[in-house]
Amino acid sequence: MVRTTILGAGLLLLGSVSLVSAPLASETSDTNSGIDPQADRQALRDFYTQRFPDVPLEEHKNGVYAFDEGAREQWLEMEDFPPYEIAVDDGAELYETPFADGKGYPDCFGDGAVKGRYPHYDEVRSEVVTLEMAINDCRADHGEAPLAYDGAEITRLTAYMAYVSRGQIIDVALPEGEGPLAAYEAGKRFYSTRRGQLNFACSSCHVQLAGNRLRAERLSASLGQVTHWPVYRFKWQDVGSLHLRFNECNSQVGAEPFPPQSEEYRNLEYFLSYMSNGLALNGPASRK
Ligand code: HEC
Repeated sequence: MVRTTILGAGLLLLGSVSLVSAPLASETSDTNSGIDPQADRQALRDFYTQRFPDVPLEEHKNGVYAFDEGAREQWLEMEDFPPYEIAVDDGAELYETPFADGKGYPDCFGDGAVKGRYPHYDEVRSEVVTLEMAINDCRADHGEAPLAYDGAEITRLTAYMAYVSRGQIIDVALPEGEGPLAAYEAGKRFYSTRRGQLNFACSSCHVQLAGNRLRAERLSASLGQVTHWPVYRFKWQDVGSLHLRFNECNSQVGAEPFPPQSEEYRNLEYFLSYMSNGLALNGPASRK
């Protein structure tokens, strides 16, 4: 059961690590006591409303372009000929290509506009299931070998599926029970735990320092970080997944990377998606 806390929206505390520093917060080391995802989400939204008073919360789906005027103009121009377009076209073709048994992705996902259903907590498997996993499940059901999670084929498929799912509203549920809450908690803990030689948490940069410059880049808010994947990055010269981006941020601070679709990253995606509930999907996107 999701417990509510009388401390309410001010509390985003995890052990000694807080996502949002709040005067009301009191420490707790007992993992499951006082977990209140709704309050976490509200506290995060309140924090960004204060930090970016001129930016509607919904706009954070555009990452740094929500508040970096110069970068935003370049980006809007680029959207006339979006660099991810080829990946979407390739993905459409892959999507329609039948498997050896004559069936195909449409037999699993209909028209492909299903991104809004992922990630979700699967009660039978007792784990968070992402769109990438569902794609490989579909293949397995039809006798096809799985796609590599960091390969070109799966990112083209997800680019297409993200494109046809545009406008769906993120609505990640936290069903009753220990499993979903534990997955959420693990994701939140990951996001707010300091790691690597720099000893930075994800939240150090994307919450506490959001909006500030780090070398040549402004730092985006956590809210909206999951809405727009896969992303075409000029640095990658290709579309890449959210988990690839997680790894890049991990290695920026000198921390160990995790495999794409590892339990750690799926729980992180689950937590971040819950934080972004209410925002519209707008993938694929382009970034520097
Ligand atoms: C040292 C600072 C730093 C830390 C720590 C950090 N990031 Fe980042 N992150 C960046 C920078 C810089 C960018 C590129 C600018 C931007 O979009 O914020 C970025 C971008 C991102 C993006 C893409 C945003 C978009 O709009 O496409 C995601 C997602 C992300 N980070 C997640 C994480 C996660 C998860 C962690 C923890 C594992 C993390 N970051 C830790 C600096 C950091």
